[in-house]
Amino acid sequence: MQIIDLSPDDEKIIQQLAGWLVEQWPNSWPDIKSGLQEVLESLGEDRISRIAVDETGSVLGWIGGIRQYNGNVWELHPLIVGKNYRFQGIGSALIADLEAQVRERAGLTIWVGTDDEENQTTLSGVNLYPNFWENITKIRNLAGHPYEFYQKCGFIIVGLMPDANGLGKPDIYMAKPVEKT
Ligand SMILES: CC(C)(COP(=O)(O)OP(=O)(O)OC[C@H]1O[C@@H](n2cnc3c(N)ncnc32)[C@H](O)[C@@H]1OP(=O)(O)O)[C@@H](O)C(=O)NCCC(=O)NCCS
Repeated sequence: MQIIDLSPDDEKIIQQLAGWLVEQWPNSWPDIKSGLQEVLESLGEDRISRIAVDETGSVLGWIGGIRQYNGNVWELHPLIVGKNYRFQGIGSALIADLEAQVRERAGLTIWVGTDDEENQTTLSGVNLYPNFWENITKIRNLAGHPYEFYQKCGFIIVGLMPDANGLGKPDIYMAKPVEKT
């Protein structure tokens, strides 16, 4: 496997990534057209768009970064590993690659918002305002929510937007410092 820039010439891969977005997050990208727009936006200025490919050139995963706060902070968006390739270290390799890319651009922090729309953690389906921080420190994973994946990659929870995706459906904010080499 190698991790390389997504190129506007990779038409087949761009179509495939759009399809992955629609399949994984139909509420955000209801059709191929909106998925394609998202993939093409990742090729814009102030963006990073990297793909993991195997020796035959097939795409295994995709990660993007968006420059924010004068380049001090980069938002990780999106991250997706092909269904058949998960739990093989590809997601964490993509994060390490994004970190190297952000380091090269003198960024200091990478953050990600990871929604909980499907009651996957103890932070969903509850009123978060009483004991806000206690709720965060006592978070438990109920159904494979990716926050634990991010923790394993060095992220910590730095905040929470209650009801971001509807009542009881928060967005969990996570960040990690860009390690010096
Ligand atoms: C989340 C995702 C990117 C992880 O990629 P991956 O290639 O499967 O992850 P890795 O194999 O690198 O996993 C690294 C570690 O995280 C753990 N992990 C991965 N996904 C996890 C999950 N959903 N819940 C808990 N732990 C998880 C792995 O078990 C592994 O742990 P280990 O080091 O103790 O063995 C992938 O499952 C995916 O694309 N999911 C759908 C899209 C998505 O949710 N993207 C994130 C949106 S914010």
